[in-house]
Amino acid sequence: MKYNFLGNTGVLVSEICFGTMTFGGSEEGIWGNIGRLQQQEVNLMMKTVVDAGINFIDTANVYSFGKSEELLGQSIMDLGLNRNSLIIATKVRGRMSKDVNDVGLSRLNIFQSVDASLKRLQLDHIDLLYVHGADLFTPIEETVRALNDIVLTGKVRYIAICNWPAWMVMKAQGIADKNGWNKFVGLQYFYSLSGRDIEREIVPLAADQNLAIFPWSPLAGGFLSGKYTRNNATPGDGRREKFDFPPINKEKAYDIIDVLGDISKAHNVSVAQVALAWVRLQKGVTSTIIGAKTIDQLNDNLKSTDITLSTDELKKIDEVSTLPKEYPSWMVERQMGDRFIKQ
Ligand SMILES: NC(=O)c1ccc[n+]([C@@H]2O[C@H](COP(=O)([O-])OP(=O)(O)OC[C@H]3O[C@@H](n4cnc5c(N)ncnc54)[C@H](OP(=O)(O)O)[C@@H]3O)[C@@H](O)[C@H]2O)c1
Repeated sequence: MKYNFLGNTGVLVSEICFGTMTFGGSEEGIWGNIGRLQQQEVNLMMKTVVDAGINFIDTANVYSFGKSEELLGQSIMDLGLNRNSLIIATKVRGRMSKDVNDVGLSRLNIFQSVDASLKRLQLDHIDLLYVHGADLFTPIEETVRALNDIVLTGKVRYIAICNWPAWMVMKAQGIADKNGWNKFVGLQYFYSLSGRDIEREIVPLAADQNLAIFPWSPLAGGFLSGKYTRNNATPGDGRREKFDFPPINKEKAYDIIDVLGDISKAHNVSVAQVALAWVRLQKGVTSTIIGAKTIDQLNDNLKSTDITLSTDELKKIDEVSTLPKEYPSWMVERQMGDRFIKQ
């Protein structure tokens, strides 16, 4: 396992992060469709990832309404893992009850949510706290100040952002900078061969600000695992059949899967491994957050770190998955032409 620095910090995280969204779902609803893993399976998966050298684990308060955090925390106890060898990330924002204030990025909810997460995780601090998405009703300044203050309490070591538009990230970073507050160290966004949108604004922003990039749903919710094809759109056991998320262009995805299929045959590996390898190899990616519903899927996905893709393979994948040009990036590219003098 390789380790990369977490943005502009001295902390090393494994190039694969283990996502725990499949932990604890009940029969009904979104979380049940994503995964229903209970303690015994969770412990086996946690042992497998730690044995593979993964030191970075991703959960959220909302995953199975707190069950994912509980199962993760208990697995650390059950397996006798050294908590200080793990970088535990969780999130705040999503609604946890019908209480009007039990949601969002207010100072009130950030402080209450962190205490609730720590209790469920059975830990005394969170290594990385993400805001899980935008809260357009709370002033950004209130959120950034509360995040700074929660770091000062010692309950949280570092802060990061999921799913915010680029302008909001940059505004928040500027507010933190101006006030001498703790700045954000990383960005967690949907990034896969079927969702390369972050290449427009987020990837350049991350490079400029030295922010880590943590792709979520690198298989587009399983769509790029190889089990969905044009001729078999409903293999029967995949979560996308009940919970069709994240939104992707499926016709384009089938073209991508065809290319991945050829490359996976040449390497004698699964389509999922090639799709994950591509994400891992992209510029700015610090750690890819993998998900698995079974131990076999997990073992398959872990092998993706052994794969290197040739220039020719990367070119073929790029050709079939590249984003259409969008304004103003095409105008920037065009206008930059005059910065060079033709000899
Ligand atoms: N910040 C955010 O907003 C956000 C959003 C989503 C996820 N996340 C994080 O990212 C992590 C990963 O997301 P994800 O679960 O959506 O990732 P993903 O890799 O896109 O999808 C994982 C799912 O694909 C299927 N799968 C995985 N490996 C497979 C294989 N080798 N062969 C066949 N099927 C396979 C499984 O579902 P089926 O068996 O049901 O098909 C598995 O649960 C989550 O656990 C969470 O920590 C964050």
